[in-house]
Amino acid sequence: MAIRELPPNLVNRIAAGEVVERPASVVKELIENAIDAGASRIDILATAGGLGVICVTDDGAGMDASDLALSVERHATSKLADDDLSHILTLGFRGEALPSIGAVARLAILSRARGAAEAYEIAVDAGKKSALKPTALSGGTRVEVRDLFYATPARLKFMKSERAESAAIADMVKRLALAKPDIAFSLANGERTTLRLDPCPPGLIDHGLARLGRILGEDFAKDALPVRASRGKITLEGFAGLPTLHRPNASQLYLAVNGRPVRDKLLAGTVRAAYGDLLPQGRYPMLALFLTLPPDEVDVNVHPAKTELRFRDPNGVRSLLIGALRDALGKAGHRATASLSQAALERMTRPDVSIAPQPPSFTHRQGFYGREARSFGFAERAQAPLSPLAEPSADMRGMRTDDRQEAAYPLGAARAQVQDTFIIAETEDALVIVDQHAAHERLVYERLKRSFANGGIARQMLLIPEVVELDAEAAATLSSAAAELERLGLVIEPFGASAVVVREVPSLLGMFPVKDLLKDLASDLAERESEEGTRLIADRLDHVLSTMACHGSVRAGRRLTPEEMNALLREMEATPHSGQCNHGRPTYVELQLADIERLFGRR
Ligand SMILES: Nc1ncnc2c1ncn2[C@@H]1O[C@H](COP(=O)(O)OP(=O)(O)O)[C@@H](O)[C@H]1O
Ligand SMILES: [Mg+2]
Repeated sequence: MAIRELPPNLVNRIAAGEVVERPASVVKELIENAIDAGASRIDILATAGGLGVICVTDDGAGMDASDLALSVERHATSKLADDDLSHILTLGFRGEALPSIGAVARLAILSRARGAAEAYEIAVDAGKKSALKPTALSGGTRVEVRDLFYATPARLKFMKSERAESAAIADMVKRLALAKPDIAFSLANGERTTLRLDPCPPGLIDHGLARLGRILGEDFAKDALPVRASRGKITLEGFAGLPTLHRPNASQLYLAVNGRPVRDKLLAGTVRAAYGDLLPQGRYPMLALFLTLPPDEVDVNVHPAKTELRFRDPNGVRSLLIGALRDALGKAGHRATASLSQAALERMTRPDVSIAPQPPSFTHRQGFYGREARSFGFAERAQAPLSPLAEPSADMRGMRTDDRQEAAYPLGAARAQVQDTFIIAETEDALVIVDQHAAHERLVYERLKRSFANGGIARQMLLIPEVVELDAEAAATLSSAAAELERLGLVIEPFGASAVVVREVPSLLGMFPVKDLLKDLASDLAERESEEGTRLIADRLDHVLSTMACHGSVRAGRRLTPEEMNALLREMEATPHSGQCNHGRPTYVELQLADIERLFGRR
């Protein structure tokens, strides 16, 4: 067969395959054009998941008649003044979107250039252009796309449900809106407006935080840690969610580079790495981060949809991101997400889970309120349904005065232990419930990591080496990791075919059942090996330390003395990341006294 040049309409249809993958990509291209045109408000309508009508209206600069005619031509753009691809400041630059959309749908563009007396309209139906004609429009541009993919039935078959396509459109609008907080957006589906975002004026310190709340939820806004860092000409700004706000996938990672929302593997992976062991396996944080760098430091011309990028200095970007996130998370210290306590309170107020039947000794619970609360757990100890603290001691009175100081700490003064599992503490204006195992586990883990970083984990020799029977595979896995484990304070040797002998353990761990730890370590190590041969060593070490901490920490079910409890609280306050345990669960919840009063109708 002889070579032939393809007709323009076919070329456009082929390009459309990459540029407009689904209705949400049309929405993206049209919003980007409106943003590039300097719009201050953008209204979007999408019916039937975008397969009915997509209509995007803006109040931007508009186009005059000749520009309008050119706009639907292939590779015609107003955004590359010279032929330089290394200084792209606009979202578009390829001149492909409008002709591609016109090739696979019924497209109409109405526009009025700023200051012009007349508005014009042009239509393209499956690649067939109609002549320009005058129309009525007060300003800006309106682009209407009907029957998307009707000209390419093969593509139409790949569309997901109307609901899924609508959701993808809403997500796209949110991503763009987040990156452009000074533009007003609205999204409607033909029946109602589903999203309305007012502009957030720039210049405020929390520029965009209000919008962030609208998009990622008020929970996020409440628990977002500000992130701000720079390195050379690269700056990073935004908000990162506390690790306890994790999600099952990366859908709540909102990342923008130079105002362009991206779904970049490098960035997403880096974010995950920065949270590291603060998140449970396979979970993702919520965050919105905006990276700004000189345009020649990043290549946006990697993919026709422009959602992928290439950085000139990926390592620089990576370390800026990791440093900034670690810093923000470190500053959060023991904070856990407020939404957890909120959810707990809401459950308490639900009538079906309220305390019924009421226990006969109800009166002693009044100690929870106001001033009286100070004595709760001590004076009432005898009848209280709580485990007593240590035996009442002669210096209990003395402790009460120390108490006042303890209560001034963020996690307050320990008042009681419930079920030998939870510590109840009281601050000046809240009640704090601590999961003693979860909290201690994080503390031990952070101590282990610290001593590992500071030159090594101190070991303690077992008086009698302990032989641990496992299966052959587990014994082999552990034996092959013996050198690695020794650096972490655990000295083992193979013992026969299916056992190992433990000679030394990290002294930080105190007394604990060694056998359980070894079993867990063996299955962890095996799992990690099969998962990915190239797992980062550091990640693997962290994981071993975390497993050790889990075994070497105060278990649920151990009775603690008041001194032990207060010591635990004070150490939590001083330890980074102590708001969640190594499995990403919270270590404590805080119930505001005001909320508790509300529960009882006192407010
Ligand atoms: N909403 C709009 N307002 C003003 N001009 C627009 C608008 N949409 C498109 N244009 C013009 O049409 C041209 C072609 O648009 P498009 O095909 O998306 O390519 P690109 O955005 O890559 O330039 C743009 O360069 C711009 O000049
Ligand atoms: Mg464009």
